[in-house]
Amino acid sequence: MNIGVFGAGYVGLVTAVCLSDLGFKVRVVEKDRVKRNKLQEGVSTIYEPGLQEMLVRNLKDGRLIFTDDSPSAIQASEVLFVCVGTPSRPDGSADMSQIEAVTKEIVESSLDSEYKLVVVKSTVPVGTGRWIEKMSALYAKGRKANLEIASNPEFLREGAAVKEFMHPDRIVVGVASERGKSLMEDVYRSFDCPKLFTDSHTAEIIKYAANSFLATKISYINMVSDLCEETGADVALVAEGIGYDKRIGPDFLKAGPGFGGSCFPKDLRAFAHIGKSYGLNFGLLEQVMQINRERSQRMIRKLREQLWVLGGKRIAVLGLAFKPGTDDVRETPAISVIEALLSEGASVLATDPLGIAGFRDLHASLAERISFVQDPEEALRGAHAAVIVTDWEAYRQLDWADIKLRMETPVLLDGRNMLDRNEMRRLGFAFMAVGR
Ligand code: UDX
Repeated sequence: MNIGVFGAGYVGLVTAVCLSDLGFKVRVVEKDRVKRNKLQEGVSTIYEPGLQEMLVRNLKDGRLIFTDDSPSAIQASEVLFVCVGTPSRPDGSADMSQIEAVTKEIVESSLDSEYKLVVVKSTVPVGTGRWIEKMSALYAKGRKANLEIASNPEFLREGAAVKEFMHPDRIVVGVASERGKSLMEDVYRSFDCPKLFTDSHTAEIIKYAANSFLATKISYINMVSDLCEETGADVALVAEGIGYDKRIGPDFLKAGPGFGGSCFPKDLRAFAHIGKSYGLNFGLLEQVMQINRERSQRMIRKLREQLWVLGGKRIAVLGLAFKPGTDDVRETPAISVIEALLSEGASVLATDPLGIAGFRDLHASLAERISFVQDPEEALRGAHAAVIVTDWEAYRQLDWADIKLRMETPVLLDGRNMLDRNEMRRLGFAFMAVGR
């Protein structure tokens, strides 16, 4: 089967590389010349375990091509995956202009041609499938575009994307016809997991509902975490205690600086916007976002309790990536922590194994106001306090006994509950964790 993939972003690239590895011939349409050339030369544009080797292997075997020639890719393919971005607009709704542009290209290159299945993998608002159908008819200008639109949301987690693509918890496909269903069954034939075939509206809602639910779990435990701090309870044990209940489950109950990344914040905003647009009370999600926004204030308050005055003090921020194992700094909680520290008049020295270049690039105006250093021990030297924002394993391995001697004042806020607090206190740190 010949497959076309539109957009070599996170989802598109992982989808294309994995599908080619399964034996399909995949043509990826990517408009960004620099990105396309890099990929065609076998250099992955994202950091994702296993992806680089798979990319090289499938390029070499000729199953994977990166191109800007969308007409050829469309004409050659039976199934077209749409994986372009749907960024947030200022009001929180998803910006659909890239999807709309791809729709036009697909229609114009498939007039009077054989049946093709257009599979939307980008996270999109309810009703997008219908919109694509409507726009297809308009762009076809009375001629026939033999297209069927399906929705196939992606649940990949950064840092485990290849593994999760190849071994998903489930596959969700919103598709109307038997022909479309059978094509998607062929695509995913080798996958041994539940496969849920639905209408397109249901599939579109499943993606938003899943991400919003997971984000809700995180804000929920963060809310409980604050109560644990006030009462002297331990949020990790509360999470364990409720997590044994199979209906709740142990995952996504780690208290911390809040969720970030390219999905949760964006999808929550979009889902809340969708609910509101139907006149529904989606205030629950507004609260989830509000709790997340307030995490940094709580952290600053704790530092103030130890350091009295933050103005003029040097604070080391350990971790810029929104979670370990990735260089992704989109909507990372580090942003609000750094902003809050700067507004207190503190000076910030930030470190991260992979995220510094991206942070400088993406958050340039904030980056201008702080300093960066690659080596965490250097960041900690002379600091009045350190805040762990990302739970990189490397931070556990640091020589904390030595670091304590080199800090100006040994104040440590472990925003991820990753260090052994008894050990840290024994070493002489004024040590604070989250929710315990
Ligand atoms: C998420 C979803 O998990 C994935 O299914 C979807 O397709 C895309 O969005 P991802 O953004 O890669 O994936 O990150 P994830 O591992 O889910 O973590 C999201 C954020 O929540 C991170 O900032 C993480 O640190 C935070 N988090 C996660 C917590 O604070 N506590 C937890 O218990 C779990």
